[in-house]
Parts: sequence; structure tokens; C-alpha cells
Amino acid sequence: MFAVAIDGPAGAGKSTIARKVAADLSIIYVDTGAMYRAIGAYALKKGLDPHSREQVTPLLPEIRLELNHSPEEGQRIFLNGQDVSEQIRLPEMSMAASAVSAIPEVRAFLLEQQRSLARRQSVIMDGRDIGTVVLPQAEVKIFLTAAAEERARRRWKEYQEKGLPDSYEAILADVIQRDEQDKNRPIAPLRQAEDAVLLDTTGLNFAQSVEKVKEIIRERVADVL
Ligand code: DC
Repeated sequence: MFAVAIDGPAGAGKSTIARKVAADLSIIYVDTGAMYRAIGAYALKKGLDPHSREQVTPLLPEIRLELNHSPEEGQRIFLNGQDVSEQIRLPEMSMAASAVSAIPEVRAFLLEQQRSLARRQSVIMDGRDIGTVVLPQAEVKIFLTAAAEERARRRWKEYQEKGLPDSYEAILADVIQRDEQDKNRPIAPLRQAEDAVLLDTTGLNFAQSVEKVKEIIRERVADVL
């Protein structure tokens, strides 16, 4: 059994790359951002302010999260038995997730669940604090990043395909602002673990990025395909 921790800023391609690597290596992909998103979604559903520690903390004992994996549907996340996988991708959910992720009780609540997932099986887990806080003993740690301009360009392309009007300049400003927030927050700030391999995907396409990640894993874990 082994664990791969992938951290890095928003838009670096962590989740799409991690999902593909997990499928290729037949291990479980754990999307910790989805867990924060589900808690944010629950707070919004209850009509509460996701920024409020006083309002969100009492909700935690009512929240049961399950991650299911099927070859056909990929990873699905269930909140108290209900599949919220699509709902948590709506734009307002990013804000709510970011808000609840700054609450210490929320982080403590998810920490135990995330660790227990990695105790039972080989995982590739992505987020912001996996190599530093959640799985400090992970066999493989990768800090995945790309230039802000490249990340903004990728998101702009995605938005164009979906027919969303946001300009490249507006998206770039948003990327830079989110980077600053993530790096400077007092709790679990985004930073590279000392023993993490830095992988900059600027100028690499998806297939090349996946191959690089697999190479890094193969160098550190015996018997990986
Ligand atoms: O990766 P994402 O966009 O789905 O993450 C949603 C939010 O959750 C994002 O604002 C950062 C936060 N997050 C976190 O603080 N720690 C993690 N391990 C994963 C996500």
C-alpha cells in the first residue's frame, strides 16, 4: 500500500491528472476539495453563512460524507445519502468551500476522514495540505503548479467551451487573487512540503503531465506499473 499526495494552487490540473493516474494505477482517487465543497453546500442549503464559524461548526455532527467509486461513473460524493457530485461544481460552491475551509473545526472534521481513507487502501489524494498536514508520511508528494497565465488560459478555454463570457484578463486577476488568499491564510496555507517534488506543468499537455506524475511515483514506489 502507498499514498500519493498532490497539492498545488487552483487550476494547476491536479484533479484531472490525479483521476487519470488513479485509473491507470488502479488505486483510489480522493478529491478533498469535493469534501470542503459538500460542507459548503450543506451550510448554504441550511440558509447559513459559510464564513461563520459559529454557524458552521454545530452542523458538523449532522454531516455524513461518503465517497463512492465505480468504473462507470468515476468518483461520486454523497452528503447524508444524497449524491451532490454535480451540485458542488456550481460557481457559488467554490466560494462556500473556500469559506468553510478556513474554519479550524471543519479542517479537523475532515482530517480524520481523509486519513482513514488512506489507511485502508492505496490512494492518490489531492488538495492544498495533503503532503504537509493530512498525509505527512505519504510515500510520494508532488507539488503541482503552472504559471498563473497558463492556468488562466486553461480556465478561459474551458469557459469559452461552456459559452461563459468572462474575459482572460478577469480570469487572470481572479487566479492571482485566489493564489494570494490561499498562500496567506492563517490556517493550512498552501505551501510546498519540503520533501515534495515540484512539477510545473506550464508547457506540458495533459498526457505529458500524467506521464510525469507516473514517473515520479515509479521512482519512489516499487511494483507500480
Ligand atoms: O480544489 P477545489 O477547488 O475543489 O477546493 C475547494 C476549496 O477547498 C478551495 O477554496 C480550497 C479548499 N481546500 C482546502 O482548503 N484544503 C484541501 N485539502 C482541499 C481544498
